[in-house]
Amino acid sequence: MWRREAVQMRFVDIIEKKRWKEELTEKEIYWWIQHYIAGEIPDYQVSALLMAVVLNGMTVQETSALTMAMMESGETIDLSCIPGIKVDKHSTGGVGDKTTLALGPMLAACGAKVAKMSGRGLGSTGGTLDKLESIRGFNCYLDKEAFINQVQDIGIAVIGQTESLVPADKKLYALRDVTGTVASIPLIASSIISKKLAAGAEVIELDVKYGDGAFMKTADEAGELAKMMIYLGEACGRKVRAMITDMNEPLGMAIGNALEVKEAVATLRGRGPEDFTELVLTSGANILAEAGLAADRAQGRRKMESVLADGSALEKLKAMVEAQGGDTAQIENPELLPEAALITPIFSREDGFVRKASALELGRLAMEIGAGRETKEAVIRPETGIVLGKKTGDRVAAGEVLAWVHHSEPLQPAWIERLYGAFEMSREEVPKKQLIYRML
Ligand code: URA
Repeated sequence: MWRREAVQMRFVDIIEKKRWKEELTEKEIYWWIQHYIAGEIPDYQVSALLMAVVLNGMTVQETSALTMAMMESGETIDLSCIPGIKVDKHSTGGVGDKTTLALGPMLAACGAKVAKMSGRGLGSTGGTLDKLESIRGFNCYLDKEAFINQVQDIGIAVIGQTESLVPADKKLYALRDVTGTVASIPLIASSIISKKLAAGAEVIELDVKYGDGAFMKTADEAGELAKMMIYLGEACGRKVRAMITDMNEPLGMAIGNALEVKEAVATLRGRGPEDFTELVLTSGANILAEAGLAADRAQGRRKMESVLADGSALEKLKAMVEAQGGDTAQIENPELLPEAALITPIFSREDGFVRKASALELGRLAMEIGAGRETKEAVIRPETGIVLGKKTGDRVAAGEVLAWVHHSEPLQPAWIERLYGAFEMSREEVPKKQLIYRML
């Protein structure tokens, strides 16, 4: 780490260098991050540099230096006192993504140690923490000692990222969010990997999504991001694997916090949607093989299937909810989770096949009725959301349900029209979507 006082620089020179597509040195990148978190560089200057990075990119060396500088901006968690292989997963985010809620307990039931720090959502639906908080009493804020003890005792804990973990990312991400500088491979890769490195897991599985509901719009861009993240993680001695998955339509059928908890519980009972179940089985198989808890992916998959079949994964979820103060009756009987006052079915007006059920639009619509937050201050209504009746490739007859809306306030006619617009229909048969595009 560079000592701050040892290097004299002018930030405007760094901005200009990037503006002329020159490579920044490791010293310059550390200087930027250290002086920014110390409050010594104003947001307007950092915004200018971020936009230059979005437009002109960063080399692998610059991205590595940025990742390390961000990781070193706060505390790092040492999980070495926990016996066993510590695993983590990260999804670049999408609509209906409740993967942690099912995959985490399944991995723990297979003997992995799942030490997971998650975030809240901004935009479409809530993040993992918002989903977990739809369970009465669930506490996402354990201190470090309680977090480590819980992973040691029951094999899994899911908590909010502590304030002191990668503070540089917190500050930079808030700025990126309001300056149109989120969508950049070096910025996203360094943001995600710095946090994964600081959180301490040895095996990291990444789900990099592409499509209208994701940051990366194409599978090629998602592949590039995944390769960069694998490189950054492996350079620091972690085992990193990635899946490239489609986020042109929501994952599973449920969008909305309590609705997604219900869907995760159904999945742990072996009654989840096909696409979501396939994703957690494949992802879990990869992690078990990488962690040496299975000889290969095929054996990993068999193990994952068996913890669904024998109920041990569901028991792990219950154990985690209990340990974190949540009401396990709501897991045993998900009907006890928050329920919307109104459930309105939306009927198809035509016969045909669904060509598209837009993740982007369905996510926005769900957010507008309370399932997500448009601003950091907005309050989530956990009971609200949309449950799809049909997805891409499904045959639909006029009068069949396209979706059920779970809401607390009356629905506006314009909102309902937009919901119809989120479904593109075709007279011709449409192939089902292939969720997992590629594994790296
Ligand atoms: N998720 C993150 O944690 N960081 C990004 O930059 C984008 C998505």
